[in-house]
Amino acid sequence: MPPTPPLEPPARVLLGPGPSTVSPRVLRAMSIPLVGHLDPAFLRIMDETKRLLQFAFQTRNELTIPISGTGSAGMEACLVNLLEPGDEAVVCINGVFGTRMADIVERCGATLVKVEAPWGRVIDPADVAAALKRCQRPKLLAIVHAETSTGAWQPIEEMSKLAHGAGGLLVVDTVTSLGGCPVRVDDWGIDACYSGTQKCLSCPPGLSPVTFGARAIEVLRHRKSKVQSWYLDLTMIEKYWGAERVYHHTAPITMNYALYEALRIVEEEGLEARWARHERNHQALKAGLAAIGLTIASQESHQLWTLNSVRIPDGIDDARVRGALLEEFSIEIGGGLGPLKGKTWRIGLMGESSTVANVLLVLSALERVLPRCGHAVSAGAGVAAAQRVYAEQPPP
Ligand SMILES: Cc1ncc(COP(=O)(O)O)c(C=O)c1O
Repeated sequence: MPPTPPLEPPARVLLGPGPSTVSPRVLRAMSIPLVGHLDPAFLRIMDETKRLLQFAFQTRNELTIPISGTGSAGMEACLVNLLEPGDEAVVCINGVFGTRMADIVERCGATLVKVEAPWGRVIDPADVAAALKRCQRPKLLAIVHAETSTGAWQPIEEMSKLAHGAGGLLVVDTVTSLGGCPVRVDDWGIDACYSGTQKCLSCPPGLSPVTFGARAIEVLRHRKSKVQSWYLDLTMIEKYWGAERVYHHTAPITMNYALYEALRIVEEEGLEARWARHERNHQALKAGLAAIGLTIASQESHQLWTLNSVRIPDGIDDARVRGALLEEFSIEIGGGLGPLKGKTWRIGLMGESSTVANVLLVLSALERVLPRCGHAVSAGAGVAAAQRVYAEQPPP
C-alpha cells in the first residue's frame, strides 16, 4: 500500500456561509502547548473568556460560557435546558435553522407551535402574537436573528416584548450575527442566546458561546425533570465554569485558546468599528453585484451584512459557477439550501473574511466566470461600483 498522503488542503479564500478566514494570531494560539483543564492558568483563561463573551454578547449575564461543540450544540443546549416534556414552545421558521430548532423542540417532548414565513423574508410579529395566544402557557419563543440559509436578519426587540408579555422566555440564535452586526442581549431582553465560533468571530468551528439570563436560570433551577442531555446539562457545566470548578468534561483546551485570542481581536477592533466594517463591505459588494446584474434575494431592508444571498440569474448553472470560482480563484462561496438550492449563491463576508480585498476579488472573479456561463457582464463594472462605495464611505 502507498503511504498515506500528508495533510495538504489547499489555501482557500473562505467566502461561504462559514467557516470564515481564521487570523494567524488565532492559529498561533492553537499551537500553544496545553495545560490541564483545571490548571490555575487555564482557570484564569476561562474567566477572561467569560468576560470577553459578555462583551461580545453585550450582557452582564454571569452564565456566559462557550459550550463544547459547534453552533448546533449551543442551540441544543438552550432548548434542552429550558424545555421539559409537555411544555409549549413557539418556534419561528423561515429557513434551515428555525427548522432545526423545531426538530430539537420536538425531540425534547415539548409541544411545537410553528410560526412560518417564506424563506428570505422575516417573521411577522403579528403571526407570533397569534401563535402565543393559541398556547395555554408558552414556555419560550425561539427565533433566528441572522438566517444563514437565506441572508435575512430579524428584528428582535418586538419579539422580546411578545414573548415576555405571554409569560415566556426569548431564545435567540446569533450564530451568523455575533461579532458581525449588532447583538444586544441585555438591551433586547434576550433570555437565552447562542452563537458559533466559525462565523463572525473568525475562529475554527468547535465551540458555541451561550448566555443565560436571570429568567432562564430561574426556569433551569425549577425544572421538574433532569435535563435530557447529560453532556449539555448546564446545571453541571456551570459548576465547572463557576466558582466550584467541578470537573464535568475535559474542556477542549486548544479551542478555548483559539476563542480567547479571537475575542481579544474583537475587543481590540471594538464592536462598533467591527459592525461598521461588515456593513461597509456588504454595501460595496451589493453595489458591485447590482452593476453586473445580480441582486440580493433576501427581503429589502432586512439583508444581512454578514451573509449575502444572491439570486442566480435564470439559465445559469449554479454548480458550474461555484466550481470555476473554486478551481480558478480558490474562492469558496456557498450554494442555496432547501427550496433555494440552485436558486441562490451565498457569499459570506464574516469576521476576517469581511475585507475590501475580498469584495474586489470575488467581484472580479465573477466578472470573469459569469460570461462564460451565459451571463453577459461588462468587465470591470462590478469592481468599479464597489470602489465608488468605498470612495464615498471612507473607513471609520
Ligand atoms: C444560523 C445558524 N444556526 C445554527 C447553525 C449550526 O451551527 P453548526 O453548523 O456550527 O453546528 C448554523 C450553521 O451554519 C447557523 O448558520
